[in-house]
Amino acid sequence: MPRETRDTVSPTVPDIPEVLADFIDYGHDADTFQHDVITGLGAARKAIPPKYFYDERGSRLFDAICALPEYYPTRTEVALLRAHAAEIAALLGSDACLVEFGCGSLTKVRVLLDAAPDLGGFIPIDISREHLLASAVSLAADHPGVEVAAVCADFTQPITLPPAAARRRRVGFFPGSTIGNFEPRDALAFLRTAARQLGTGGGMVIGVDLVKDAEVLRAAYNDSRGVTAAFNLNLLSRINRELSGSFEPRHFRHEAVWNADDSRIEMHLISRRAQRVHACGRSFAFAEAETIHTENSYKYTVEGFKALAEQAGFAHRRVWMDGDGLFSLHYLDVA
Ligand code: TRP
Repeated sequence: MPRETRDTVSPTVPDIPEVLADFIDYGHDADTFQHDVITGLGAARKAIPPKYFYDERGSRLFDAICALPEYYPTRTEVALLRAHAAEIAALLGSDACLVEFGCGSLTKVRVLLDAAPDLGGFIPIDISREHLLASAVSLAADHPGVEVAAVCADFTQPITLPPAAARRRRVGFFPGSTIGNFEPRDALAFLRTAARQLGTGGGMVIGVDLVKDAEVLRAAYNDSRGVTAAFNLNLLSRINRELSGSFEPRHFRHEAVWNADDSRIEMHLISRRAQRVHACGRSFAFAEAETIHTENSYKYTVEGFKALAEQAGFAHRRVWMDGDGLFSLHYLDVA
């Protein structure tokens, strides 16, 4: 395609591996990362959006977090998906298309695919291009009966779903309590947009982490092996690599704290000393103990999440929880 006719939001369609019905790339360009880093490090309270955690190394570290003994959400949610897969498959019905927002390594959706032989299509959307491509190709090869079309994009940006989704009943899949990584008002906006995109008659399967004992929460984000710390600090190495940064990761430390007033875990990178760091051709000053706020993980009550979903235009159909009330899985209908 000639360059002049492309604007920044047009997707490109690269060579599509044979097992995929489509591979659409909305190209997350370096300019956006650069812009967000300059804005975030230049702010009075420094912050960088969490979506930049997921470069190739970050995606691998995240998979390692999910396997940690302290990180209860993944195994609890997978157990819920396994235990209720048949019921969820019945709710999906025949020839539906699942649309997964921020799909990572695609391990969770396999539980649903194995239990739902009537599923017609699957659209994984993720920002980490190579990781997405490899995961989607492997999944498609294992499920030749399902039309798989991958979309590389920030799943909060407006995208046009590929034909595999357009001609089917659409059900969103949003596990991992990623909804908790939005500010509540952004969570509402995201759910509203998703409801519109999925369309009347559609649905959503969504995993939501619950408010609980502060020590259990704290440990989940401060694991004893330091994997979460490495994941958080990798953001600085990514800035070094991609934006000519001069961060010394060892001059920062990972911290995750439970903010009970706002019902959220906050993740920070804390400067161990007063220092000056260069990135994107600019210079940023850090006072000793100054933080870069890298993520929030809001925790909900079942009632609180239900109210949010209903406000966004969904009807709440079902909730499943583990015996200890650690994590919740919901089925919502687009009202
Ligand atoms: N959605 C996950 C959560 O909020 C993401 C996550 C888990 C995460 N562990 C993390 C993000 C550690 C950054 C660092 O639990």
